[in-house]
Amino acid sequence: MSLHEQTKHLSPVWARYTTIVADRAEGIMLYGDDGRAYMDFTCGIGVTNTGHCHPRVVAAIREQAGLLLHGQANIIYHKPMLRLVEALRQVVPAGIDSFFFSNSGAEAVEASLKLARHATGRTDVIVFDGSFHGRTSGAMALTTSKGKYRSGYAPLPSGVHVAPYAGCYNCAIAKAVGRDRAGMSAAAPHEAGCCGNPLERVEHILHANTTPHDVAAILIEPVLGEGGYVVPPASFLQGLRALCDKYGIMLIADEVQTGFGRTGKFFAMEHYGVTADIIVAAKGIASGLPLSAVMTRKEIMDKWHPGTHGGTYGGNALACAAAVATLDVIIQEKLVQNSAAMGAVLKGELSELQQTDSRIGDVRGMGLMVGVELVDKNGAPDAALANRTLAASRELGLLLLTCGTYDNVVRFIPPLVVTDAQIHEAVGIFRTALNS
Ligand SMILES: Cc1ncc(COP(=O)(O)O)c(C=O)c1O
Repeated sequence: MSLHEQTKHLSPVWARYTTIVADRAEGIMLYGDDGRAYMDFTCGIGVTNTGHCHPRVVAAIREQAGLLLHGQANIIYHKPMLRLVEALRQVVPAGIDSFFFSNSGAEAVEASLKLARHATGRTDVIVFDGSFHGRTSGAMALTTSKGKYRSGYAPLPSGVHVAPYAGCYNCAIAKAVGRDRAGMSAAAPHEAGCCGNPLERVEHILHANTTPHDVAAILIEPVLGEGGYVVPPASFLQGLRALCDKYGIMLIADEVQTGFGRTGKFFAMEHYGVTADIIVAAKGIASGLPLSAVMTRKEIMDKWHPGTHGGTYGGNALACAAAVATLDVIIQEKLVQNSAAMGAVLKGELSELQQTDSRIGDVRGMGLMVGVELVDKNGAPDAALANRTLAASRELGLLLLTCGTYDNVVRFIPPLVVTDAQIHEAVGIFRTALNS
């Protein structure tokens, strides 16, 4: 039996975009074992921000592997974790000074909620329509980007209330009052005012579905990821902050996908001038090694009593060493600045394409987190077109992903080391693929 045939023995539960068997990857390129090369604009779903196998990250992992592979956090302190705390403190918002580490985004999301519950003595949480927070039971209960992520897994934990996310293009209110949807979205939506209705809905939920003194947290992705790369107006995040302050609720920012420079700031919440009480991070933090973080103020963290949460591998020495090197690369190579600059190039080129192609309903995003919403002639989501375009792009050597409830948003998330020539080439391939 050839090695390739072993793929039949892997669980079908992984929905697969490609059948590529990868041999190696470097920078923005990924190489199949058939000798084909691909520009990787998926970044392993937003993980390899420093590019694949950045030499300094690889060197740090190699060095740490010879010193200490597994340092269990209940038993010892290890230096990579302490160095990581030191490095994170340089980049997190002022006031955030206490850290807990785990392995995946879902784990960290669940941990953040456990912390918020202990810190407030309350049980409930408000999340947003279209959110994705992970695959574990707790995280599934918080996830509404696609029904299939929850289907067949009931019962899920209760106490979760779903409010509308504020995003102009597909906003029911904007449609109802006949706003120029495309126009609103194209014109820097985070600077445009919000009609305020989504915030009113949150306030309503706080009084109708639960009570303010039962709600431990409002949990939000500062840019909706899996749900379709939706950028909310700043006033929405600012309004949520005000509600949290009014009722003593923890504002939790799920920066799993948006963190570590992805949106052109270190953390996406910086775009809105809002500081969350708890920040959840993963993906880009360690360039591909499993690591996630819950980051908050010490006075909040101190309410989490010893032994009430933990894990065998969380804050693994190898992953922490990779994260320290990752942060160093992001800063030294000015990758946050590059994300902002290259993001503008990417959005600019895609918006130009939109001018000549009515199937592109919307181009939106921040930094190198850009979504292209494909629609049919009636403006309805066109997943078939998105799928065909992805397949044709792949044949031409470009890897892309989709997102959105209806799978019709093509997402561009290249490594933050990408150059404008590479963006130009990728958009060219996308254009050809769209027309093929
Ligand atoms: C915003 C967000 N939160 C949480 C998660 C879950 O992370 P993980 O797959 O590492 O559990 C993801 C994964 O895509 C995500 O995008």
